Amino acid sequence: MAKRDLSYVCQSCGAVYNRWQGKCDACGGWNTISEETSLAATVPAAQRAGRKGRAVPLETLHGEAKPAPRLVSGIGELDRVAGGGFVPGSIVLLGGDPGIGKSTLLVQASAALAKAGHRVIYVSGEEAVDQVRMRAGRLGLAQAPVALAAETNAENILATFSAGAAVQFVVIDSIQTLWSDSVESAPGTVTQVRTSAQLLVRYAKQSGAAVILVGHVTKDGQIAGPRVVEHMVDAVFSFEGDGANQFRILRAQKNRFGPTDEIGVFEMTGTGLSQVPNPSELFLSHRDAGAPGTAVFAGMEGTRPLLMEIQALVAPSSLGTPRRAVVGWDSARLAMVLAVLDARCGVRLGGHDVYLNVAGGLRISEPAADIAVAAALVSSLTGAPLPPDAVFFGEVSLTGAVRQVSQAAARLKEAAKLGFNKVVMPQLADGSASGLEVDTISSLAGLVAGIAARAPRRAAMPKPAMSEQEG
Ligand code: TYD
Ligand code: MG
Repeated sequence: MAKRDLSYVCQSCGAVYNRWQGKCDACGGWNTISEETSLAATVPAAQRAGRKGRAVPLETLHGEAKPAPRLVSGIGELDRVAGGGFVPGSIVLLGGDPGIGKSTLLVQASAALAKAGHRVIYVSGEEAVDQVRMRAGRLGLAQAPVALAAETNAENILATFSAGAAVQFVVIDSIQTLWSDSVESAPGTVTQVRTSAQLLVRYAKQSGAAVILVGHVTKDGQIAGPRVVEHMVDAVFSFEGDGANQFRILRAQKNRFGPTDEIGVFEMTGTGLSQVPNPSELFLSHRDAGAPGTAVFAGMEGTRPLLMEIQALVAPSSLGTPRRAVVGWDSARLAMVLAVLDARCGVRLGGHDVYLNVAGGLRISEPAADIAVAAALVSSLTGAPLPPDAVFFGEVSLTGAVRQVSQAAARLKEAAKLGFNKVVMPQLADGSASGLEVDTISSLAGLVAGIAARAPRRAAMPKPAMSEQEG
C-alpha cells in the first residue's frame, strides 16, 4: 500500500512545500498553494523498490535512418515559426489569452494537414464535438477528414490514439482540462497538468506523432499552471494580439527545432485567420504621416524585415514625478534613451510626461529602434513632423554615439519596396545600393539638431546645450 504523502504545490509555478503557506517563495504569488498528493506516491512500487537499471544500447550521432520529413501545413506563417513545419515526435505548447484564436488556428492547421493525407486527431476538452464542428463549418473546413473527440481523461485519449492507424498530428485543446487516473489531485492542478503532459510527451516520442498542447495564459503573460510543462516540451509558441485590433502574432519562445526570433502574422476575419504575407504594409496602413511624434522604424523580426510606426507623445506634466508609459517597447530602454537625450543632447524631459506606443500591437525587442524612438520623442517635443518618407534605425550607446546594427541591407530593401525615399541610419552601414537617400548620423545630438532645425517653434529646444555637444 503506497503511503499517502501530502505535499503543498504552488498552482502557478509548481514549487513544492511540505506545509501550507500563504505566499509562494518561488514566484511570489499569494494564496496559490494548495494541498496535493505528492508525485512520489504515484510512482509505481516496482520503480521505488530500488530496481536495478538495465543498460541501454548507445548510438552514434550520425544515424542510419533518415529522419521523417516535417509536417508542413501549408499555412506559411505557422510553418515558418515552427522552423519549416512540425517535427514528427515533437511536442509543442501553444499559449495565449482566452479568445485570441488558438482553437481557430489549430482547427485550420489540422484541416490542412488532414487534407494533405495525414491522420489528424483533434481532442477538445473544452468544447463539445458539435461546437468544434460548428467552428469548422464557419471556417469552411467541415469536409476535412479530421478525427474529433471531446475527452479529458489522459488514459482514454492515449488509448484512442493507439487504436486504429498511425497518427501523425494531434491537438489537445487544452492541457488544463486533462486529468489522469494515476494521480489523485483535482483536474487543473499542477500535478494533473504535469502528469498528463508527461504521458503525452512519452506518447509523442514513442509514436512519432507531432503533439500540440494548448495552454491558457494568465493576465501577467505567464502560461498558467502549464508553466511547469514548458521545460518538458520541445517548443513553446505564444499567440498574441490585443482585443482592439484583428492582428495576431505567433511567436516562438522556445524551439528545439528552429529559430526563436521568427514571427507569424495573421489577421482574424469573419472566416477564420488569414495570413499576412506582407506585415509592413499592414502595420503602416493607417499611418498619420504628417503628424509630429511619429517615426517609422525599419526593424527585423527573425529573418524578415518589418517596418513599424513608433508614436510618441511628450506633454508638460502636472505631476511631481512625470509619467512614463510604454506599450510595445522596453520601459528600461526608454529610460535609457531619455537619459542619453538629457545628458548628451541637452533635451530635458524631466518636467514632461512621455507616452510611447508601437502601432498595431507589435512588440519590439531590438535595440536598433533607439534612433526611431529618439526621433519620435524629439519630434513630439518640438512639434516638428519627421519627413513622412523616411525610415530610421540605429542603436544609441550611453555616450550618445550611434552604433551600427545588423542586417542593414535587408532593412533598406524593405523600406525601398514600400516606397520610402530616405533613411536615417548609423555611419559605416552601406546604404549605397538601396536607391534611398541616405542620411548617416554618428551621434544622437546630430539627429536632435537635424529635427530641431525643422521645428516651427525653435524656443522649445535648449540651444546652448546642443551646440556645445555639436562642437
Ligand atoms: P478561439 O479560437 O475560440 O480562441 P481561443 O481558442 O484562443 O480561446 O477564437 C475565438 C474568437 O475568435 C472569438 O472571439 C470569435 C473570433 N472568431 C472570428 O472572428 N472569426 C472566426 O472565423 C472564428 C472561428 C472566430
Ligand atoms: Mg479555444
